[in-house]
Amino acid sequence: MFRFRKAVLLTALFAAAGFAGAQTASHYPGVGRLATPKEVAAWDIDVRADFKGLPAGSGTVAKGQDIWEGKCAQCHGFFGESGEVFSPLVGGITPEDIKTGHVANLTNRNFPGRTTFMKVASLSTIWDYINRAMPWTAPKSLTTDEVYAVTAFLLNLNGIVPDNYTLSDKNIAEVQARMPNRNGMTTAHNMWPGNEFGGTKKSDTSNVACMKDCAPEPKLASFLPDFARNAHGNLAEQNRPVGAQHGADTTRPEVKLGDVAPAPAAPVAAAQTVGQVKPAASPKADAASADNKAALALLQKNNCTACHAVDKKILGPSFVDIAKKYAGKADYLAGKIKSGGSGVWGPIPMPAQTLSDAEANTIGTWLAAGAGK
Ligand code: HEC
Ligand code: HEC
Repeated sequence: MFRFRKAVLLTALFAAAGFAGAQTASHYPGVGRLATPKEVAAWDIDVRADFKGLPAGSGTVAKGQDIWEGKCAQCHGFFGESGEVFSPLVGGITPEDIKTGHVANLTNRNFPGRTTFMKVASLSTIWDYINRAMPWTAPKSLTTDEVYAVTAFLLNLNGIVPDNYTLSDKNIAEVQARMPNRNGMTTAHNMWPGNEFGGTKKSDTSNVACMKDCAPEPKLASFLPDFARNAHGNLAEQNRPVGAQHGADTTRPEVKLGDVAPAPAAPVAAAQTVGQVKPAASPKADAASADNKAALALLQKNNCTACHAVDKKILGPSFVDIAKKYAGKADYLAGKIKSGGSGVWGPIPMPAQTLSDAEANTIGTWLAAGAGK
């Protein structure tokens, strides 16, 4: 997959830059340029299963524990056991699994859940993922050695390497040979019958596009009646509260293409999906909305939006709810934004934020005034 992605990326870069020089460049004069080797290198960070692409470096379990406790534990739990923000990374593995390369609990119906290390077959995936995507709120902020260290710590928590281990590019292949589910993957099924896997199997589906004398388009004969929309409670609240998709708010009627804009309190996601026209603001609202825009821009700039949305709970409470609770209390809010804290809205802590006093004040004032848009 990574190789495929890289190919697509490079093609896109070359296309944008008018690769092949004069020939294509003349078609789009003044549009784009060739990516520099440095730019390509910055994109080209994938680590393959055979560890091609892995940068040299090393890190100890002990160093990894410090990084983990400072930058990862608030979401994943001190022992990688938390199911609060994402499913647990650690657990469910036995020494026998490390010998066989098959995780027995994957086929044990009584075992509650599947952790990351129960499932993952190649250590390169863990290294690469942490390197490109974690910590969630500051991806790519770890140094190469820090990625080695925190990976070593996770391996140690899972009983794959001892406490005094130093993981490095030199010994990572040896650790791969101890990955608990290393033999748990198979291509002997019909999902990807392509040549790269031997190409002997027939695919599950084989559809040919119909070009003439085709059957008429099927008509949908059933739909969800309005009264059933909320039959199972609000679906938006039943989704994992992280990531971009939160499900429809079924306490409200379905928003259909072409409807007028919903009331301001309606979920942002629904309004965005159908790209509705917003109602025009009054001139007085314009002045206030300039302040609001400034605050909203600061929320983006400081990554607050990784955990907060204006009118729905993500990891942290919605800004509208915060505004209700602390109307007029700009100073309290500005202080709390800088210090972070926990226990007011639930068990998940908010890490201390590094932004200037002026920025914290602007956001605090905006919240204290009602968190308008
Ligand atoms: C602010 C919360 C947060 C922090 C801090 C955080 N993570 Fe994550 N982590 C997540 C979420 C959410 C996911 C799932 C993301 C997804 O599926 O798109 C995740 C996924 C992962 C995964 C992949 C698990 C899997 O099974 O796919 C690993 C490994 C991981 N994190 C390691 C780390 C490490 C190491 C750190 C610290 C350097 C860290 N995380 C910090 C929230 C966090
Ligand atoms: C890693 C996720 C995360 C990030 C990033 C984050 N927050 Fe929070 N925030 C939370 C959580 C979780 C809470 C709830 C904490 C609690 O229960 O005490 C919270 C609470 C708050 C509160 C209410 C505090 C209280 O005492 O009730 C404010 C205000 C706030 N955040 C503002 C911000 C601003 C502004 C930013 C960006 C500069 C930001 N947050 C970034 C997760 C985050």
